[in-house]
Amino acid sequence: MELSTLLTHDFVFLLLLACACIAPATATGGGGRWDLLQRSIGVSAMHMQLLHNDRVIIFDRTDFGQSNLSLPDGRCRRNPRERVLPVDCTAHSAEYDVASNSFRPLTVFTDTWCSSGTVAPDGTLVQTGGWNDGYRNVRTMRACDDDEGSSCDWNETQDALAANRWYATNQILPDGRAFIVGGRRQFNYEFFPKADASDASAIALPFLVQTRDPEENNLYPFVHLNIDGNLFIFAKNRAVLLDYKKNKIVRTYPELAGGDPRNYPSSGSSVLLPLKPSPTEAEVLVCGGAPAGSYNSTKDKNFFPALVTCGRIKITDASPSWVIETMPSPRVMGDMILLPNGAEVAIINGATDGTAGWEAANTPAYAPVVYRPDHAPGDRFEEQSATDIARLYHSSAILLRDGRVLVGGSNPHVYYNFSNVQYPTELSLEAFSPEYLDGSNDVLRPTITSPSPSGAPVSVTYGETMTLQFEVPGSNTRRRGRGVGGIGLVSVTMVAPSFTTHSFGMNQRLLSLVVVQTTVALHRAAGAYEATVVMPATAVLAPPGYYMVFVVNGHIPSEGIWVQIQ
Ligand SMILES: *[C@@H]1O[C@H](CO)[C@@H](O)[C@H](O)[C@H]1NC(C)=O
Ligand SMILES: *[C@@H]1O[C@H](CO)[C@@H](O)[C@H](O)[C@H]1NC(C)=O
Ligand SMILES: *[C@@H]1O[C@H](CO)[C@@H](O)[C@H](O)[C@H]1NC(C)=O
Ligand SMILES: *[C@@H]1O[C@H](CO)[C@@H](O)[C@H](O)[C@H]1NC(C)=O
Repeated sequence: MELSTLLTHDFVFLLLLACACIAPATATGGGGRWDLLQRSIGVSAMHMQLLHNDRVIIFDRTDFGQSNLSLPDGRCRRNPRERVLPVDCTAHSAEYDVASNSFRPLTVFTDTWCSSGTVAPDGTLVQTGGWNDGYRNVRTMRACDDDEGSSCDWNETQDALAANRWYATNQILPDGRAFIVGGRRQFNYEFFPKADASDASAIALPFLVQTRDPEENNLYPFVHLNIDGNLFIFAKNRAVLLDYKKNKIVRTYPELAGGDPRNYPSSGSSVLLPLKPSPTEAEVLVCGGAPAGSYNSTKDKNFFPALVTCGRIKITDASPSWVIETMPSPRVMGDMILLPNGAEVAIINGATDGTAGWEAANTPAYAPVVYRPDHAPGDRFEEQSATDIARLYHSSAILLRDGRVLVGGSNPHVYYNFSNVQYPTELSLEAFSPEYLDGSNDVLRPTITSPSPSGAPVSVTYGETMTLQFEVPGSNTRRRGRGVGGIGLVSVTMVAPSFTTHSFGMNQRLLSLVVVQTTVALHRAAGAYEATVVMPATAVLAPPGYYMVFVVNGHIPSEGIWVQIQ
């Protein structure tokens, strides 16, 4: 099929005007679908990161006995500081290939337990910290090529950090470095990479002392890069805006009502809500958590109901306040995933009682919830269909380029434990397909034809325009005549994949792009269109690196394409 470039009046129309022809999204209960992808990948998915080769880097910790996957090439770990097995020939990391639904073992030698990560601007995962012999280590994992085989693996650098980073949070900065904050007994932050390898400076952050309580409910703080370039940092029930260049708190936000903690071990979750085209404001949503005292009580097998509330705040306002909303059910250890249509946030995994920690929750939350930030208050949450696999402590979830949410992990035990326990260590991977992937939406689903979704990532610069060609099957004239499908309000979104662990998606970010050109029907009979968008203006809006770009018809996203912005 040849795309006509004739921009005759017949073929030019404002999609904005055409959106009246599309039926509103039907909000039926129990939406979405679950698929079991792998019964066992051998490693429990405590940490997950999607790279731009559509492979997911998964890792756990190295010191809880044998996993169910052998190290590659007959390797064994002989680590004098290993606490459990003097010789361990099993893998504690794996690479999952989305397209082929296959996996292979990766090699980490030092402990990555409860660590953090950022994808560098060149697309390499930079993992930071861990425990024991891994407290101050930095490990990198490239986006491997198909022909590299098992030679493409982790590279570990001992003691590259200034401080121990165990339960710390990372956020990529506009200059491409990672901001690394907190961790157990670390009331400070640092940057990586260092300008000078001998730089051992950790900068004090008294806010983390102020938010520390006897249960230490301020670990894995929620960090979001605000559109003014400052860092929003939330710990326990409070938040500040940090000018990290001057080491100055530039705004102190009100307490999130009730005073109950939202961070590990009372793990709620948080997202920076989707940013509008050329954003002038930014909002943060924090959902779930556990009442103060919950963590202590779990030691007596007393599991308090989790928090049922979310707080939403406009972080760009000079004196904003939290608006409280109520979820359909309580949740602790939920993961919040920005869905690529820019209109929904999935809240997935976790429990309805207890807290994070070993043996610290009793009732899994099997059904995800979707939150629609632009709907009217009271009409924002919708419960989705449930899985039957418990995803408790040490589970994770990430967005894939095809719009599914990959879910894995859950190990609420000290060691891998597959028997005689209520919630065995989970080595499985599942996919949650939100309602927009339902077959009934196929006629509305855009397919990007150029740049090719299977081609190499497209390189773009700040403020540059990019033209996307796409097709919407239901919008071709014959089908339109039959009254099905159609093209609605087209938007284009850009999503930074998250480093997810402990119920928080670090570096997760979704921007709606400015669609400049009147979207043009290239060949309406075939349902082919073109849209020209402007890339974000600055690295403050979109730190350098790889993003997935989606064309969204109404609320139905296409499969994404990879774009590298720099
Ligand atoms: C471990 O792997 C074997 C295959 O190698 C599989 O049969 C078994 O079910 C796995 N165990 C668990 C607990 O996943
Ligand atoms: C591993 O990382 C170190 C430190 O960054 C670097 O010097 C070395 O070249 C890397 N090795 C490989 C095989 O990439
Ligand atoms: C939790 O337990 C610790 C240690 O036993 C104790 O110091 C602390 O006061 C307790 N906190 C709460 C909120 O009960
Ligand atoms: C698994 O849990 C059971 C029940 O608590 C316990 O008896 C067993 O020792 C555990 N196994 C391992 C490997 O920790």
